[in-house]
Amino acid sequence: MNVRMWLHPATQRNLKTLVGDGVAIVGPDIGAMACGETGPGRMAEPDAIFDAIVAALAPPVSGSLKGRHILVTAGPTAEALDPVRVLTNRSSGKQGYAIAAALARLGAKVTLVSGPTALATPEGVTRVNVETALEMGAACRASLPADAAVCVAAVSDWRPDQVFGIKMKKGPGGPPSLTLVENPDILADLSASGPGRPHLVVGFAAETDNLEANARAKLARKGCDWILGNDVSAEAVMGGDENEILLVRDGGVERWERMSKIDVAARLAREIAKVLGDAAA
Ligand code: CTP
Repeated sequence: MNVRMWLHPATQRNLKTLVGDGVAIVGPDIGAMACGETGPGRMAEPDAIFDAIVAALAPPVSGSLKGRHILVTAGPTAEALDPVRVLTNRSSGKQGYAIAAALARLGAKVTLVSGPTALATPEGVTRVNVETALEMGAACRASLPADAAVCVAAVSDWRPDQVFGIKMKKGPGGPPSLTLVENPDILADLSASGPGRPHLVVGFAAETDNLEANARAKLARKGCDWILGNDVSAEAVMGGDENEILLVRDGGVERWERMSKIDVAARLAREIAKVLGDAAA
């Protein structure tokens, strides 16, 4: 809708009537429009419309997350080599964003620390954009305290030890050699015991083989409370819309049937609500 049409008193009057009748409204977004004008009137992003419909139709759940603050990391990180080149991975961010949306739907205050993605911010979620693993770690620390942390981001394990200030050029010396240094482990840092530790810390284990053994090893090595192992050997997982999860925690291992990332998110959010619902406020 054109900005002046949207802001017209008659439209606003009618809108008020609909809201008064209990009709849920999605959008509009603010931005540039096809007519050349800028302002409120753009159609909301399809993802935001979908989230709002799911939220409106979601059955009531026990163990609401109202009053809880939950930190979610999502997406890839991008580690600069020079002003135009980055070292990154195939993570789409879809699973992390779906988890942030599902937690917000249960009433949690959600901080989503996100690497570069093309996704719209889910309804009711506060998003902090970062590029590198170091920035992601700093943003996570700055968003504490949190009742729970869910680390879904595909954080680059390494970054170039040197970032060139100007674009690297081809030359007679042949291709450059890259030296990589290890990035800090954000999940392990959040899991470290101490006064600020979130009550529940959840990580993911993206594996191409030996899913259960690797997921168990990661749970022990990182010190988190739960690991959701997912098999990323199938082409459809990285960037796809489905996931097959193995939930590993102290109480045992649970295999979830293959389901959409949105359903994985809803189920995880319900599991988290059970724990935080029981924890002392
Ligand atoms: N993770 C993190 N910070 C890192 C690396 C990983 O927070 N620097 C988190 C991810 O968000 C995920 C979990 O750790 O929740 C496991 O990530 P994964 O890439 O599967 O494992 P790695 O730690 O890279 O271990 P490995 O190299 O053995 O696969």
